[in-house]
Amino acid sequence: MKGLKFVVIGGGSSYTPELVEGIIKKRDTLPVSELILVDIEEGREKVEINYNLVKRMFKKEKMQTKISFTLDRKEALKGADFVLSQFRVGRLEARARDERIPLERGFVGQETTGAGGFAKALRTIPVILDICKDIEEVAKDAWLINFTNPAGIITEAVNKYSNVKVIGLCNVPINMKYDAAEELGVSAEKIRTEIMGLNHLSFVTKVMLNGENKINEILKGSKLDGKDTMKNIEKIDDFEEYNKKIGLISSPYLQYFFFPDKMIEKELKNIKDGKGTRAVQVMKIEKTLFEKYKDVKLDIKPKELEERGGARYSEIAINLIDSIYNNLNNEYVVNVVNNGSIVDLPENVVVEVNCIVNNEGARPLHMGHLPKSVKGLIQQVKSYEEYTIEAAVEGNREKALIALINNPLVRNVDKAEELLEEILNQNKKYLSNFFKED
Ligand code: G6P
Repeated sequence: MKGLKFVVIGGGSSYTPELVEGIIKKRDTLPVSELILVDIEEGREKVEINYNLVKRMFKKEKMQTKISFTLDRKEALKGADFVLSQFRVGRLEARARDERIPLERGFVGQETTGAGGFAKALRTIPVILDICKDIEEVAKDAWLINFTNPAGIITEAVNKYSNVKVIGLCNVPINMKYDAAEELGVSAEKIRTEIMGLNHLSFVTKVMLNGENKINEILKGSKLDGKDTMKNIEKIDDFEEYNKKIGLISSPYLQYFFFPDKMIEKELKNIKDGKGTRAVQVMKIEKTLFEKYKDVKLDIKPKELEERGGARYSEIAINLIDSIYNNLNNEYVVNVVNNGSIVDLPENVVVEVNCIVNNEGARPLHMGHLPKSVKGLIQQVKSYEEYTIEAAVEGNREKALIALINNPLVRNVDKAEELLEEILNQNKKYLSNFFKED
């Protein structure tokens, strides 16, 4: 069997041991012969710590996989079969700004939705497109498995502006499936969920068990808030009640859209109580994690990693790759080009839907119309996403403003103009596109 070469961009991420655990678990069907962790100078210390931990994890399991780390991305990418992207431009400091700037102006401050997600997209799109240029040159047949947030927007940018084969991933759909199974008292393998929408804006529309749709039964007694699996989102009590009204199980991220004021209140309270926004909390978790990772006796993924929001990230990533490599035709919910799957959205945009995955990639199933109760919201957010991508690629301030006005968590032109200026100025270092004349 020819071994596979995996390259992880953002190898210094604290999620790396999670991914490696997945590689180890799938060793019988997924022969990874080489794993390279790539990072940039600022991430050198972390990537080196991860490299040493992964070496110990492989040794414990008697894995033959060659492991290395490097700051030379293009060299690493040569001949890669799978490129996994989990990097964060500007690190957690930038995330903290993304959360704080909107909050200071009365808007939701979240890393992937609203104005925070917008800022993250502007910083990330130029970088991912640069990475894609390298992949096109030295690994044109490789699959890019994108976990970098905002995952849907980034995947769409890659699709629209490069020739790289890409699939976008998120752990929310699989977590929603596990939650639904738990609610029914069965194991997740027993049920089939249908999920449609956009990344971090998706909805379970069907939960099939033995040929019957159990969604109403689940909604009736529901505690489906993702609180066990989504460590990064605080829960709003009325969320389930609203889910019952619309007859859908909404992604926990929908709390930002359905209850923005309450979410802002929670965020401000965390700041007042000294807990800080999520980025500040994650900085503390990361510090503990990397201290653990340094321990030469540690040779497994430590339990503390479960404090992060990315639970089951590796399960979905590795299963997806397994299904591509072994041509399994398994069904997963991933981010791919719509191509008519959701008829109420343009053909060329990226959506999060059930797909059949094999060695040709992920083919979306025909999902039909969006539920009427959330159709307008999804369409509006998609417009925001499309404008955000164009703004980032062109460095276009007008399109950036139109993007924010289309974002239901921003809207107001006067305030959005000020917000945009602040976001651009505070991210100047990463946004050369927007500051060409300076
Ligand atoms: C969930 C989301 C990811 C996000 C993560 C944040 O898993 O699906 O997109 O990156 O939460 O978790 P964190 O621990 O960084 O707040």
